Amino acid sequence: MHIVDLIIKKRDGNKLSKEEIYYLIDNYTNGNIKDYQMSALLMSLFYVGMTDEEATNLALAMRDSGDIFDLSSINGIKVDKHSTGGVGDTVTLILGPLLAACGAKVAKMSGRGLGHTGGTIDKLESIPGFRVEVPFTDFLKQVNEIGVSIIGQSGDVAPADKKLYALRDVTGTVDIIPLIASSIMSKKLASGSDAICLDVKVGSGAFMKTVEDATKLAKLMVSIGNLAGKKVTAILTSMEEPLGHYIGNGLEVYEAILALSGKGPKDVLEVTNVISSHLLVDAKLAKDIDEALEMLDEVIKNGKALEKLREMVIAQGGDVSYIDNPEKLFSHKKVLVKALKSGYVEKINASEIGVAASRLGAGREFKEDIIDLKVGLDLHVKIGDKVNKGDTIATLYVTEKGIEEATNLIINNIIIGDKHLTNKLILGIIK
Ligand code: URA
Ligand code: CA
Repeated sequence: MHIVDLIIKKRDGNKLSKEEIYYLIDNYTNGNIKDYQMSALLMSLFYVGMTDEEATNLALAMRDSGDIFDLSSINGIKVDKHSTGGVGDTVTLILGPLLAACGAKVAKMSGRGLGHTGGTIDKLESIPGFRVEVPFTDFLKQVNEIGVSIIGQSGDVAPADKKLYALRDVTGTVDIIPLIASSIMSKKLASGSDAICLDVKVGSGAFMKTVEDATKLAKLMVSIGNLAGKKVTAILTSMEEPLGHYIGNGLEVYEAILALSGKGPKDVLEVTNVISSHLLVDAKLAKDIDEALEMLDEVIKNGKALEKLREMVIAQGGDVSYIDNPEKLFSHKKVLVKALKSGYVEKINASEIGVAASRLGAGREFKEDIIDLKVGLDLHVKIGDKVNKGDTIATLYVTEKGIEEATNLIINNIIIGDKHLTNKLILGIIK
């Protein structure tokens, strides 16, 4: 096989075989195929597209380029979730303990945030002592014993995807649906769970701006997962505004604790419940969605879900007094942001609100930046809310950095007008 023949074959609209896709990925990963050749191929993919079969083979080839985790020593059905990236999205921190309290096994590897999006691993580090790097055998043991562990990505998962993603990022080839689907699924398939729920974000703050595109992406990811022998459900959820009220690391742990205590914001609970209920059904722990929702409600009411979070924090070396007294998780130096006019909240630019939190120190601009785990913000308003001039629309939890910039970002990105709109949260379910 020769790379240039494969580029021409694709450029001319033909389908690549499984062997040809493995050849491309293996040789790109080991450096035999050069970036300029892969760039030409990627741009052909943008114009020609890929069949579902090609996308599946690409996901499998990238999965096979690195470590594949064997979770078979964990008893029971292993569940996993993935979000395509949102602002203020603390669902993983709620869902892990919640599902474990219902009897599911949650062996979760999560990432760090970059730019305006947060990462579960950074959030967990706001609990002093919490270990996110755990030997794999200890991770398996913990999931067997208490049902849940959340750790940082270890080993070398889908290195082909890492290399290809970096190239896509600088060649204008990120937003190609089959490439996004195979990129996400290569990593999910390597993580070893049996049932996977994908939270596909739609809207101004997301990769996918329309329900139509998000549906295409979701269907393809479900199909790739099924072809690889996994139970996969995709939920389309709105990212027209940040999820919940709090954005920031310690503040999102705080929001998760509120949710596990039955006091969380309505939208956070709704997204968590939809994802969790499908996973409970897919893991055969509930016979239908209604039964699953009852189970979830029960473990929040009887305190078992919150107790699971405590168990996980203790098992991973964290200071549990931060769970029992969660106001220790954030800075108490506050700055209030007031509305400059009266009206209804028409629009919130989620990604810019994420940038505001980042400027206060909650996020990184560069990989090596050190983040301030105690800063962030509390958005008091949601789309459709009525506000009067002078009302507080956000509270900033600050140390000293970025206050003016964050204040301006909030004022400019919460759009107040005279239209009374509502934001629908759950936009579709694809199985
Ligand atoms: N997230 C990924 O992991 N890969 C993509 O291609 C896009 C978003
Ligand atoms: Ca939030």
